[in-house]
This record gives sequence, structure tokens and C-alpha cells, in this order.
Amino acid sequence: MNSLNKIIPDNYSILISEEKIQQRLSALGKEIAKDFAGKKPVLIGVLNGGFIFLADLIREIEIDLEIDFIRISSYGNMKESSGHVKVLKPLSADISGRHVIVVEDIVDSGLSVRFLNNMISAFGPADLKFATLLHKPERTVEDVKIDYVGFEIEDEFVVGYGLDDAQVKRNLRDIYIIEQD
Ligand code: IMP
Ligand code: MG
Repeated sequence: MNSLNKIIPDNYSILISEEKIQQRLSALGKEIAKDFAGKKPVLIGVLNGGFIFLADLIREIEIDLEIDFIRISSYGNMKESSGHVKVLKPLSADISGRHVIVVEDIVDSGLSVRFLNNMISAFGPADLKFATLLHKPERTVEDVKIDYVGFEIEDEFVVGYGLDDAQVKRNLRDIYIIEQD
């Protein structure tokens, strides 16, 4: 398996390895399968960051499920939230009366989750839950409830495994911190 070394800058250091991610996903997948047994949930991946997490997570959930995607933007190429959330790609699935799990890459301020919660609730799902690979609790200012958290991390900017640094590095297999010098 390639290690993508050619595109890993010197100031990147591994925070969470591919192996640790997969172990955690296996546990989360079992939990979700148990909680949603017989319910055929719709998992909504939040683009772009959540696509790799969604792809790996669903293969750890041993029940029938459907997927859909939504794309929202609040950041542009900045590392701090602009405070405005826009829908860039709407949902395709009819989620009214369905059991929905929104799958996010990372919860930072919580603004995106609050926005998605309001927007998706308006479609009348039977149930709406949130899963995130990463959560930075110190940064979260919105009062949001996350039902499934992969890892809680410190207030640091992270990249890889779907998460970008100015749109690149999403293809890295591990999650990295960028060391500031
Ligand atoms: P929130 O709305 O402030 O919670 O931000 C959530 C979104 O910001 C995530 O879905 C990411 O796209 C982006 N984001 C927040 N922190 C990071 C990070 O450390 N690395 C990469 N993207 C991040
Ligand atoms: Mg995102």
C-alpha cells in the first residue's frame, strides 16, 4: 500500500493513524447497527470533508442503509469560520419519515451542525442524529448534541482522511496536525 509520502510536508505530524481510525470506525459501526436495527437509516455525508469517513463507516454498519450527500460551505479557504453557512448542493433523497444520520468530518464551532439540524428537521425525518469523526469541544460555541463521536481532539487544525488544507491533502490516509514554525 502506498504511503503518499511525496505529498506529506515536513511540518505535518500524525495525530491519529489510519489503523486507529479503522478500529474506532468498527466500534462506531457496531453501535449504529444496534441503534438502527430494522430501521434502514439514511446516512447523509457532508461534502467535501465527510466523504471518506462516510465511505469507511458504512462498511462497518451491518444493516441495510441508504446514503445521500449534501454540500455546505462556511469556510472558503480560511481556517476560521466566516459564520455564514450556504447550501452548495442540496439533498436528493426524500427523508421525510426516515431515520437520518448526518455524517460530518469535524465539529468545530458547531455552526454547521446547528444549520444542518434546522434545515433537515424541516423535512420531517422520523429521527435525526449526528455523527462526526472529530470534535473540538473547546471550540464549540453552539449548543449542539453529537450522538456519535470518533475522537475528541484539542484546538488544532487537522488535515487528511477527507479533511483539507486549502482544498488539498484530503487523500492522506492518516490525520495530521500542521506544526507551526
Ligand atoms: P463548524 O461549522 O465551525 O463546526 O465547522 C465545521 C467545518 O469546518 C468542518 O466540516 C470542516 O470542513 C471545517 N473544519 C473545522 N476545523 C477543521 C480542521 O481542523 N481541519 C479542516 N477542516 C476543518
Ligand atoms: Mg466540512
